[in-house]
Amino acid sequence: MKIKIAASILAADPTQFGSELERVEKAGIDLIHIDVMDGHFVPNITMGPFIVEGIKKKTHIPLDIHLMIENPEKYAGSFAEKAGKGDILTFHIEATDNPLKVIDIIKDTGLKAGIAISPDTDAQAVIKLLNTIDMLLVMSVYPGFAGQKFIKSVCAKITTLREAAPENLDIGVDGGIKPETISEAASAGANVFAAATSIFAKSDYYEAINELRRIAQDNSNLLIKN
Ligand code: DX5
Ligand code: ZN
Repeated sequence: MKIKIAASILAADPTQFGSELERVEKAGIDLIHIDVMDGHFVPNITMGPFIVEGIKKKTHIPLDIHLMIENPEKYAGSFAEKAGKGDILTFHIEATDNPLKVIDIIKDTGLKAGIAISPDTDAQAVIKLLNTIDMLLVMSVYPGFAGQKFIKSVCAKITTLREAAPENLDIGVDGGIKPETISEAASAGANVFAAATSIFAKSDYYEAINELRRIAQDNSNLLIKN
């Protein structure tokens, strides 16, 4: 399994998205994580399809669009339209009664489908869907803001879901990921790590990303192919 580091642009300088993207791209980032918040599913408002469109024009790195919105069935199409093949569109299991419908909408556009699960939601809510998705994103903070503290207890959920998952399913962890926390998330079974503050608050993005990657590799029990 490949270890992948995703840079969440929520902590990038919003007036400099172009050069911020260039800097993380040069530093070897694997995915650009875009946090979409609607002010309903979470108490914050961030970016819409318009920003995804702009980012897509600026980078060749695959996008990892994290929808923290109600009614993903209504809006998934407008985000997918601005993204492209190889990009991942992830919605929250708590936000819909019809996850299979959302997965179909996403896959019909040629994108990869992901499901995110919030800290208080039980693993059982997604276990039957693991065969139908390309990535599972386990939240290690309550969705809504960058810069929160890593919730350690989600590591047990990561392990449960890794054991139940088909071979080679990407399992991501999102929130509070930094050199001190990534080791636990990696040894629990995650292979994708989304980080905002621990990349964009540093002056050297190359060093920040490589430190995260190295610690994740050193602590992973998965077969690593990087
Ligand atoms: C939280 C977002 C995260 C967040 C991570 O709702 O989904 O992706 O940007 O930020 P850090 O890495 O600062 O915890
Ligand atoms: Zn996120």
